[in-house]
Amino acid sequence: MSELKKPGIPDELWINKCLINGRWVQAKNDKLFTVINPSTGEEVGKVPMMGKAETREAIDAAQVALGPWGKKTAKERSDILSRWFDLILQNLEPLAEILTLEQGKPLSESRGEIIYAASFVDFYSAEARRIYGETIPSHRTDTRILVLKQPIGVVGCITPWNFPAAMITRKAAPAIAAGCTVILKPAEQTPLSALAIVSLAERAGLPPGVINIVTGDPVEIGAELALNPIVRKLSFTGSTEVGKLLAAQCASSIKKMTLELGGNAAFIVFEDADIEAAVDGAMLAKYRHSGQTCVCTNRFLIHDSIYADFTARFLDRVRCLRVGNGFEAGINIGPLINEQAVKKVEAHVKDALGKGASLLAGGKRLEAKGTFFEPTVLGNVTPAMQMAQEETFGPVSALSRFETEEEAISLANDTPYGLAGYFYTRDLARSFRVAEALECGMVGINTGFLSVETAPFGGIKQSGIGREGSHHGIEEFVELKYVCIGGINQ
Ligand code: SIN
Repeated sequence: MSELKKPGIPDELWINKCLINGRWVQAKNDKLFTVINPSTGEEVGKVPMMGKAETREAIDAAQVALGPWGKKTAKERSDILSRWFDLILQNLEPLAEILTLEQGKPLSESRGEIIYAASFVDFYSAEARRIYGETIPSHRTDTRILVLKQPIGVVGCITPWNFPAAMITRKAAPAIAAGCTVILKPAEQTPLSALAIVSLAERAGLPPGVINIVTGDPVEIGAELALNPIVRKLSFTGSTEVGKLLAAQCASSIKKMTLELGGNAAFIVFEDADIEAAVDGAMLAKYRHSGQTCVCTNRFLIHDSIYADFTARFLDRVRCLRVGNGFEAGINIGPLINEQAVKKVEAHVKDALGKGASLLAGGKRLEAKGTFFEPTVLGNVTPAMQMAQEETFGPVSALSRFETEEEAISLANDTPYGLAGYFYTRDLARSFRVAEALECGMVGINTGFLSVETAPFGGIKQSGIGREGSHHGIEEFVELKYVCIGGINQ
């Protein structure tokens, strides 16, 4: 495909075709699109530019595969997922290299993501065997009530560029474990990781049609997945704007949806916090993946009495961050995904400075090739500034002050989003009070890191619907069927 492939990446993981019905194919019109390395601006490779026709073919294949796959025993499905998990870990290094090549994140973070991706396959390979139904005490002596859990059917999964491996397995593994079949549409920026991960699923023994992948036109593929009545469930991770569009399209066939959308996480440091621990958490919650995760802190709310101390210690740490190509040793901050992302970060910084924020560190893009932005800290940010209202999705920390617990909660909740929130305190009663008052799906108390396969990930308000990960995540892919059995003589 391209000389940019690293020598350690085997040919069988460097794929420029899509898997539909068990065959690796090109687009019907042979069109390709280019994948760019955001660290260098160079071409990494080309993959098929597919659209509606190929998506429809994949949906039809998934429908045919559904019956036989759903009839397999839970153990048979579990065993295949377990082999997929082993293969992902056996290929950890080349998968991490592909990820850094097309996505830019530091190689150590890519390795972490591949392990995170594998953890969902491992978890759901076990969970396949625990999809328990129910019996419910009956209203009559001659009647019994059963509740069956059955696979929902054909599932469309649309995944983002910020976690090109983990968001695939977080969706596909529970769907497949539950007995569903899948059509996957990875982000245009990062299809190579997706193709490699899917090739390992095929190698693990998934029958033709159980997992299909189409790369290409997001509007055409998304619309087909959302509008086609054969697809019974759509799982999407991405922006709230696109989530709303897909939800409107899914309404035409009353399709079940999981939506994992934008966030605007607040990180509150109370006056009784362990400040050093709060700084550690803040670094993780803000600068992991250069600020490009939906659970990244977007707003720091610091108690007035410790604002100066926290800010000084935080700045010391931010100034040590090293920005650069993710393949270089010691790099903490990779590039932003593309020019558009840099422009958004620049606009938010300019808006905040124009409205009176103070520049404490960074503030501009790097001169080097690629889409790098300096780790930036702004002080005295107010709710009137754009970066307090919208997700910046970049390495910019916005610091504000508060005086009372009520004020901090009210500022944190003053957003249409509700994905994650964080706070630091040593007071147990306050821990419960604030955790219960924050309007979000996930809360970190004295930690800046929440993501794990065993816990339910997801948001409320305009951050989404449904949960991924944990035993709750598999419920998204089953339907309940109530069976009433009468005529049982006592
Ligand atoms: C996301 O940003 O969508 C996922 C982040 C995570 O799983 O940690």
